[in-house]
Amino acid sequence: MDAKQRVGEAAAKLVGDGQCVGLGTGSTAKYFIEALAHREKEEKLLLTCVSTSNASEALAKSLGLKTVPFARVQGIDFAADGADKIDLQLNLIKGMGGALVREKIIDYRAKEFVVIADEGKLCKRLFGVVPVEVIPMAANAACKELLGIGAQEALVRMQEGREFVTDNSNWIVHARFREIKNPKKLEMEINEIAGVVDNGIFTKNAKMAIVGNENGARVIKPVRG
Ligand code: A5P
Repeated sequence: MDAKQRVGEAAAKLVGDGQCVGLGTGSTAKYFIEALAHREKEEKLLLTCVSTSNASEALAKSLGLKTVPFARVQGIDFAADGADKIDLQLNLIKGMGGALVREKIIDYRAKEFVVIADEGKLCKRLFGVVPVEVIPMAANAACKELLGIGAQEALVRMQEGREFVTDNSNWIVHARFREIKNPKKLEMEINEIAGVVDNGIFTKNAKMAIVGNENGARVIKPVRG
């Protein structure tokens, strides 16, 4: 079985009846959403879901899951979401799918947030491209300022010859960093740039990751230090 499918299905088994569930975005989260919809039907569960992107919302609805706007829920019991990089403390880089703002809104607030990924995403320290959502008029200035705080490169994400537009009608800058020694500090520094909405460094709330390969899946807890 595909590693992403394996971890998506494993996370879906952790959801309890009656829970409000945060639905992540991306190819791994897609398996979680499909497995959750399957469980809901088979076990006649009563679930309420909040989505981290329009794509996940559409998928969930097409599978019969009940979705509600985040603004209407009192709290999120459980969320499962993919990641692009995962370090030993379960700091993450997320957002290569362009959904980082809504992902952070939901993943940071879930009572239980589970990261799901193929084990190729694991690394000792975060590094590489950090997606940053920006208000379009600030994009060029933000690119320069990202270089000023240590990015080696900062470029507006393009798709089919045009700027990629997020679900929030903003643009994404891809800022490339060498080894990120202090993810919390960099997460805050990037967000201090005027015009930045949020960035793909996630340093809060992940207390468990399920990582897998084609042979199996294992649970990872943050190594403190
Ligand atoms: C979406 O914006 C992202 O944060 C994804 O969760 C992340 O890019 C992982 O995607 P895959 O599950 O497709 O690898």
